[in-house]
Parts: sequence; C-alpha cells; structure tokens
Amino acid sequence: MQDRLPADSNDDDGADLESPFAAMSDVDTGQPAPKVFIKTFGCQMNVYDSERMNEALVAQGYSETSAIEDADLVILNTCHIREKAAEKVYSELGRVRKVKDARSAVGRETVVAVAGCVAQAEGAEIIARAPIVDLVVGPQSYHRLPELIDQAKTCSKSVVDTAFPEEKKFAHLPERAPSHRVTAFLTVQEGCDKFCTFCVVPYTRGMEYSRSVADVASEARKLTAGGVREITLLGQNVNAYHGQGPDGASWSLAQLIRHLAQIDGIERLRYTTSHPCDMSDDLIEAHGEEEKLMPYLHLPFQAGSDRILAAMNRKHTIKEYVDLVARIRAARPGIALSTDIIVGFPGETEAEFEETIALILEVGFAQAYSFKYSARPGTQAGKLDDQVPDVVKTDRLLRLQELLDRQQSAFNAHCVGQTLPVLFEKPGRRPGQLVGRSPYLQAVHAEAAPEVLGQIRPVEISGCGTNSLAGVICPA
Ligand code: SAH
Ligand code: SF4
Ligand code: F3S
Repeated sequence: MQDRLPADSNDDDGADLESPFAAMSDVDTGQPAPKVFIKTFGCQMNVYDSERMNEALVAQGYSETSAIEDADLVILNTCHIREKAAEKVYSELGRVRKVKDARSAVGRETVVAVAGCVAQAEGAEIIARAPIVDLVVGPQSYHRLPELIDQAKTCSKSVVDTAFPEEKKFAHLPERAPSHRVTAFLTVQEGCDKFCTFCVVPYTRGMEYSRSVADVASEARKLTAGGVREITLLGQNVNAYHGQGPDGASWSLAQLIRHLAQIDGIERLRYTTSHPCDMSDDLIEAHGEEEKLMPYLHLPFQAGSDRILAAMNRKHTIKEYVDLVARIRAARPGIALSTDIIVGFPGETEAEFEETIALILEVGFAQAYSFKYSARPGTQAGKLDDQVPDVVKTDRLLRLQELLDRQQSAFNAHCVGQTLPVLFEKPGRRPGQLVGRSPYLQAVHAEAAPEVLGQIRPVEISGCGTNSLAGVICPA
C-alpha cells in the first residue's frame, strides 16, 4: 500500500516514494535531454506535486530518470510532519552529495533542489546545513521551477523561494500530460486553517485554498482520456473544499463529486484526507447515493480523550465523532473506515491512552495509521513542558498497533467468500497475476490476462492476509 498512504507510514518517519510516473519522451532539441530524478517523501499531496513538477520539466525538455547517477537535476520532495521525516532529508542529501561529487569528477554538473514541506519550513537553513543544495523551493512556487532552476545554474549563490504568491500555481503549471495509468491523484484543495496544536501543515502549506470545479473537471477529463478509471481527490482538508462552481457559487466537495461522477470514463472516486468537523450532511448523503463514490473513508480522530482532543484543538468531542460515524454508517452500511491516531501527545496519561483503545474498539476500523507524537518547531504543542517519554510512546504505539492489526485482519477475513468488484491496476509479483483494489481499498491479487488491466471485474475472494486479499475472477 506504499502508494496509498494517507500521510505517511506507520513507521513514524515518512513514506519514501520513488517518483512514480512512467518515462516520457524527450523533446527533440538535437541535444541529449537533461535528466531529472525526483524522490518523494510524505503524503499523497507530495506524490501529486512530484508528478506535476515532472510534467512541467518534461515540457521544458527534460526527461525523467530513475537512476540518480544519470540526473542533471535531483529534486527531493520532502515532508516535515514528524522529526524523523524531516531528518531523512539530510541523510538523503548525504547520498546525493556523493553522486554530485562523482559526477563533478567527470565534468558533469548536477543541480540539487529541495522542494516540499521541509523546504517551506526551513528555507535557507537547509543550505546552511547542506551546502550542496542549489535550490530550495516551497510547495506554492512549483510553477516557477524552470525559471528557478535557470537562476540556480547561473547564480553563484543558492536560490530560495518559499513565498506564498498571490498567483496560484495551478493556473500556471502546464496542463496534465496524458497518462497511461489506471488510478490517479488529483489535488482539489490545499493548505489548512485548522491549526491543530501538533501540526506543521498550516505553516508549510499555507491557508486553505480550493481549485475551481471547472479546473478540476478539466484535469479529470485529461486523466480519463489517458485511461485513468479511478481518481482520488486530494486535500490536506479535502472535505473543507469550497471551490467556485460553474454557476459562480461556492460548491461543496459533495457537489464536486457528483459533478465528476458524470464524466465518461470515471468509474470510481475517492477523497482524502477529511476532518470530522467538515463532514457535511450532503457529503454523507453522497456516500449513500453516488455509486461511483467508493465505500471507504479516511477520517482521522487522533486521540480518544476529550481533554487531549481539546488540547490538540481538534474542535470536536469523542461523542461527536462516534455520532458522526453512526450517521455515515447509516447512509452507507458496510463502509470501510480508516483513521489517523497519535499516541503520547504532551500530558497524555495511561488512562487517556486507554480511552483511545476504547474508542478503536467501539468504532472498529478497516485500517489505520498510527504515530508517536513528535514535537514540531513552531507548533503550540511543541512548546509544552509535559512531553511523554519516548519509551512510553513506543509502548503505547505497539499496544495500539496490535489492536489495529487485529481489526484490519478481521475486516479482511470477513471479505473471504464475498464477490467484490476489483479494478485491476498493475501486474502482480508472480507471472500471470494482476493486482487491483476492492471498493474498500484493499489490494486484491488474482490470476488474470494482461488485457484485464484497467477493467473492473467481479472477484470471488478466497484468502486474506493483514494487508491484502486473494481471489479468483468470476467467469463472464
Ligand atoms: N489533515 C489531516 C492530517 C494531515 S497530517 C487531518 O487533519 O487529519 C497526517 C497525520 O500525521 C495526522 O492525521 C496525524 O495523525 C499525524 N501527525 C501530524 N502531526 C504530527 C506530529 N507532530 N506528531 C505525530 N503525528 C503527527
Ligand atoms: Fe494538520 Fe489539523 Fe490541518 Fe490536519 S486539520 S492538516 S492535522 S492542522
Ligand atoms: Fe508531510 Fe507536507 Fe504532506 S508535512 S504529510 S508532505 S503536507
């Protein structure tokens, strides 16, 4: 599930994703195309941004490489959410330095750029710590990338752009290139105004902003023209979406979803990540009514104690969360719920941690992501004195994950014997096998002919593990 993490992995230090797009053709200039290597850390929004950066650079004559030694331009698209995720960037830069030195020894230049949330949060400090970095570019300036790279090449000093410009990057990035994938991410909303006291996102991504319905629909059409069948709408707070509709009014996420569902070729829609306070009635209704909206919802609750939730500034209580889940399940029985949980927020007692366990038992999750609290610079909670010792956090995380794994296995086990529609996405590890996704986002392995790629087929589920299902495609 590497490519589907809501915002990092359970290993507490940030997912680590190679640039996921297929090699694209060189623009013919008579010269060999300069090569770009992008390494992506963090959440899906970064995966999406890396794709857009790659496409912008390909439009400028670059070609993509997955071999860093061949790259004239190396971009690290970084995550600042927890300390370990941010520190990973510096160990990666150590490796990049060796490559840059080796290339330089044979007369080849390498431009090194740090993008993403660490770039935004640390700016010029990155260059002070890692002088090999030529360019630091924040997430709101990616449309300026070609110009910034030129500056970095010609200027003796490193270049830093961490502005939150008035002009929106989406208006200036080139249109999506045709893609031959089955599933795609599409960012519809960026930034966050919620200021949870543990979280850096409002500082790294800026204030909340929604793209217009027309802009999103046009991108969705481009994606489907290349073969995409399933789109996951992304936003740091995606259900706070309030983009301008075709009628000039502000549209909700539910309105956007219903609109996109009418596009020919789109078979499935998902969205992530949602805040409980923005789970509006029309969005809940859409789960009951819109067949293309998949029965899966990632709805972080973070902590099971009202005192901790208030200290986190989450703006809802446990009862409100439980009532919300009941309304969602009434609208869409059987919906798979996923969540994010933090253990060891400052001052969390053993009894408060046990309230988190109790909430998990009460709600029942199909899957979840859990993290040890990590104090972040600039956040309110980072300044609190009563930080929980790391050994206590580790112990709580292990106990929590043991329960979450059991719930995930139980959810998967209850699918055995059912026939589920599976959208086949890519070849499996074994020859003759394809891997797809169930409506509940489980990976499903089945023997299938290559032409089944991109199709939705009924699969009788015959086996399961904690992380995936296996089955047999039903005869037509
Ligand atoms: N916008 C989403 C989450 C974005 S960050 C939401 O509001 O739910 C992804 C997840 O990382 C969060 O849900 C939270 O569980 C975790 N996280 C964020 N800051 C953290 C910190 N300082 N320490 C540990 N986990 C953190
Ligand atoms: Fe961070 Fe809270 Fe915003 Fe989510 S809602 S991105 S956790 S500040
Ligand atoms: Fe990380 Fe930034 Fe995403 S901090 S989780 S890459 S929004």
